[in-house]
Amino acid sequence: MGSVWTAIFVVLAAISVSHAQLSPTFYNQTCPNVTNIVSGVITSAAQSDPRIGASLIRLHFHDCFVQGCDASLLLNNSATIVSEQTALGNNNSIRGLDVVNNIKSAVESSCPNTVSCADILAIAAQVSVVLAGGQSWTVQLGRRDSLTANLSLANSNLPSPFFTLDQLKQNFSNQSLDTTDLVALSGAHTFGRAQCRFFDNRLYNFSGGNPDPNLNTTYLATLRQLCPQSEVGRNTNLTNLDLTTPDIFDKNYYSNLQLKNGLLNSDQVLFSTAGADTIAIVNNFSANQTAFFEAFAASMIKMGNISPLTGSQGEIRTQCNMVNGASSGLMGVASAESQDGLVSSM
Ligand code: HEM
Ligand SMILES: *[C@@H]1O[C@H](CO)[C@@H](O)[C@H](O)[C@H]1NC(C)=O
Ligand SMILES: *[C@@H]1O[C@H](CO)[C@@H](O)[C@H](O)[C@H]1NC(C)=O
Ligand SMILES: *[C@@H]1O[C@H](CO)[C@@H](O)[C@H](O)[C@H]1NC(C)=O
Ligand SMILES: *[C@@H]1O[C@H](CO)[C@@H](O)[C@H](O)[C@H]1NC(C)=O
Ligand SMILES: *[C@@H]1O[C@H](CO)[C@@H](O)[C@H](O)[C@H]1NC(C)=O
Ligand SMILES: *[C@@H]1O[C@H](CO)[C@@H](O)[C@H](O)[C@H]1NC(C)=O
Ligand SMILES: *[C@@H]1O[C@H](CO)[C@@H](O)[C@H](O)[C@H]1NC(C)=O
Ligand SMILES: *[C@@H]1O[C@H](CO)[C@@H](O)[C@H](O)[C@H]1NC(C)=O
Ligand SMILES: *[C@@H]1O[C@H](CO)[C@@H](O)[C@H](O)[C@H]1NC(C)=O
Ligand SMILES: *[C@@H]1O[C@H](CO)[C@@H](O)[C@H](O)[C@H]1NC(C)=O
Ligand SMILES: *[C@@H]1O[C@H](CO)[C@@H](O)[C@H](O)[C@H]1NC(C)=O
Repeated sequence: MGSVWTAIFVVLAAISVSHAQLSPTFYNQTCPNVTNIVSGVITSAAQSDPRIGASLIRLHFHDCFVQGCDASLLLNNSATIVSEQTALGNNNSIRGLDVVNNIKSAVESSCPNTVSCADILAIAAQVSVVLAGGQSWTVQLGRRDSLTANLSLANSNLPSPFFTLDQLKQNFSNQSLDTTDLVALSGAHTFGRAQCRFFDNRLYNFSGGNPDPNLNTTYLATLRQLCPQSEVGRNTNLTNLDLTTPDIFDKNYYSNLQLKNGLLNSDQVLFSTAGADTIAIVNNFSANQTAFFEAFAASMIKMGNISPLTGSQGEIRTQCNMVNGASSGLMGVASAESQDGLVSSM
């Protein structure tokens, strides 16, 4: 008897393992046109907002680094959820959430209750890179959406632009991403924008009263105009992450680093940290766009594989900002309070 139960257990375990795989054809029968639908919404959003693709790929990154690629980032505050959206790396910084909701609505009207918000972020990342001139890759699908978010994990897992190379490596290796992944994925800073408050520490008193010695002096002068000293640390003025081809997905991010023209400290340390193993990788990608594109695609697939919920875990959310069956926003808070017999003092 024991061995029969063991055999049944082994079979069931094998089935559940096979469910735990993502697959490029996951929606072939249930939503075959999903990529076109996502692409259509992003293309139309990009006409009034050329930055949107960059903002969308960043959402996928910030989702995957916090309890896996499960759309936890998209959940708003509610009675049961403490949103990740106010974490240090997200607050007044992530954007594109409204476009994600538009994508979700378009997908729901063709294929109701089928495609997860986590998969929408993965598809949107790939579509955005292609629309900006980068290479395509085969997107793995079948992720499900979380029932939880984790603000403290968002605060400790999302890397800071002020980090050293060792600290960046540590945060990536915590997600099982290696040094090549770090350098390749940082290449996403070939498009999009950043606020002065994330790099203006480099402009005036970086060390010993001087600016960052690894910042090109011509670039320094430009950036000082944009980000005056009186505002250091709280300036929300924007500039391009890639000063040569701001909206094109290409290898210029790496050639910028070779000229000390990386915008964030976390960009420039990949090339300017003495003796680092990242220098040769930057040189490789700067010389060979095919090498960059291949490595980027491989690393995006790897990042997209971080701890997905699969099978019957989690759910397919109807609205990306809330778990199914929850009442949104103030309604949720009010009903929780009345259940507890509390009188609101807010
Ligand atoms: C290596 C560690 C990283 C750090 C410290 C970092 C930090 C930042 C910061 C500070 C900004 C500017 C945000 C703002 O001004 O509001 C930014 C923007 C951006 N990041 Fe990263 N990032 C990292 C890696 C990545 C990765 C892995 C990706 C995607 C694969 C990515 C994609 C982007 C994009 C596309 C933007 C522009 C977003 C927009 O214009 O809305 N970053 N990043
Ligand atoms: C799934 O759909 C894609 C896109 O339409 C197609 O390229 C692929 O061959 C299909 N795969 C299977 C197994 O049906
Ligand atoms: C797929 O989606 C695109 C974009 O929304 C649409 O133009 C096209 O007609 C759709 N194709 C099918 C077969 O539904
Ligand atoms: C988020 O940013 C807003 C506006 O700058 C600020 O008022 C708020 O305190 C920030 N929240 C957190 C948690 O840092
Ligand atoms: C967030 O994650 C940490 C570390 O895994 C865990 O200890 C904590 O209980 C989680 N918090 C929530 C609200 O899930
Ligand atoms: C990320 O790196 C910072 C700086 O070294 C560290 O404090 C933090 O614990 C790291 N987080 C993870 C999850 O590796
Ligand atoms: C990431 O860091 C957390 C806490 O710092 C730890 O529990 C976890 O095992 C680490 N994961 C990996 C893959 O290093
Ligand atoms: C924003 O940048 C402009 C130059 O483009 C500069 O004149 C202005 O002072 C900056 N704003 C702030 C708040 O620093
Ligand atoms: C600074 O950048 C310019 C191009 O923007 C380049 O010509 C120059 O060589 C760079 N200087 C250094 C020290 O890399
Ligand atoms: C560029 O990189 C690709 C992919 O790694 C490689 O096949 C090719 O030989 C490289 N080209 C040169 C000129 O090194
Ligand atoms: C350049 O990068 C590609 C892609 O990661 C890799 O296959 C190749 O070995 C690298 N070449 C050198 C000379 O490092
Ligand atoms: C989530 O918050 C955003 C911004 O505050 C808002 O636009 C959106 O409607 C909210 N979603 C839900 C389901 O409450």
